[in-house]
Amino acid sequence: MKHAAAFITAAVITAASAVPLITGGTRIEYAATENTLTSLGSYLLGEGELEYGKGDFNHDGVVDGFDLVFERKYVTEYSSKLPEGMWVGTGENGVRLYWFSGGTGYIFGGGAAQTTDFTASVTDSRFTFSSGGSTAMADIVWNSDDSFSLHWDDYGLEAFSPAGDTALLPSSELTGEYVTSGDFGERSWKFSGYTGSCNGREFFWLPEGDGIKLCWCGSTEYGDIEHITLSRTDKHHFTLTYEDGRRESFTRREITTVNGITYVNGIMIANKTYALPSTYNPGALTAETQTAFNEMKSAAWSEKGLSLSICSGYRSYSYQSTLYNSYVNRDGKAKADTYSARPGHSEHQTGLAADINYAGSWFDSTPEAAWLAANCWRFGFIIRYPQGKQDITGYKYESWHVRYLGKELAKMVYDSGLTLEEYLCIDSVYKY
Ligand code: DAL
Ligand code: ZN
Repeated sequence: MKHAAAFITAAVITAASAVPLITGGTRIEYAATENTLTSLGSYLLGEGELEYGKGDFNHDGVVDGFDLVFERKYVTEYSSKLPEGMWVGTGENGVRLYWFSGGTGYIFGGGAAQTTDFTASVTDSRFTFSSGGSTAMADIVWNSDDSFSLHWDDYGLEAFSPAGDTALLPSSELTGEYVTSGDFGERSWKFSGYTGSCNGREFFWLPEGDGIKLCWCGSTEYGDIEHITLSRTDKHHFTLTYEDGRRESFTRREITTVNGITYVNGIMIANKTYALPSTYNPGALTAETQTAFNEMKSAAWSEKGLSLSICSGYRSYSYQSTLYNSYVNRDGKAKADTYSARPGHSEHQTGLAADINYAGSWFDSTPEAAWLAANCWRFGFIIRYPQGKQDITGYKYESWHVRYLGKELAKMVYDSGLTLEEYLCIDSVYKY
């Protein structure tokens, strides 16, 4: 919470006053340089006035030799000190995030949609900032609590607070696109490193305790800062609880299309909403899917004496077409659509799905079906069309149809108790 307190202090102070009054530490009104030392030295020798009007640097009520020692120490330690690491600056340009690393860095916020690279140097408490061919200068003033301020020649004061221990929560954990539900309705979030946007509004965030500190960026106004508790369900889901108790549930959902194939968070999807191109033809179950099935078959046999086999694995677009049309002829289109996918929409075309033993409701009550439901996640599969989820998956319960997702994801989906559609926050509805 120390960092949080410092952060609030900086924001409040900057809005209220141009002088960095540092609570709990010694006040330093301006950058100390060899010049200020010379002035103080002359004054103490009775040889001149104090150039800056004040020499009580250590704030003990008198101007004396202790001030000279204090000032000398400051000049030695700070007059060429360059910030390192992550800092939050609050000033005329709003709230900005700075990353300093050995004289280079990047800045985010203040209306800039992207991070901007810069170089920086400090000589005799003069801070030089260069970016994109232009240069800005400031006095840098270090405070006794190790925060600092930049007194820009052209922009006024910017007060800096340390951004916290960024190692606590790797930014990679909050990367990507998310859709949300909860007390704010549906919002669209993008996280990229420590920066991002929510419904187009920019922010940056930093780790803070068991949550995050989120700073809304504004080019003309001071940014709002929110202190938010983060609870993570798995790597695709987390919940934020705001200070006022409002909650927002996040589902990672990054939809990409490569060669006409839809991937959500990198997972190939074939359902009523997302079709595969007719040309997509892996020719068989993928090698990984086949290997995982073989492993599952062995386990079912050795653990329970149950026999598993694939009655339908990979199906081509044209085979699915024949199959679907035969069901339409038999049952009519509306009914066929509840249990058979239109060509291009079948998961069997992905080479990642298989029907086990018998594709019909007779299989539902077999020990093999029960074992499959309880164990297939261990081998990287999920029961893709669970009971009672027809409105979500688009299909009636299929106890025999498994989809390969890999062990990590299959476990996460299984643990969530959700269908794949719910887990990824997508729908499964024909648009034609
Ligand atoms: N039976 C499933 C839904 C398919 O046709 O792919
Ligand atoms: Zn199937």
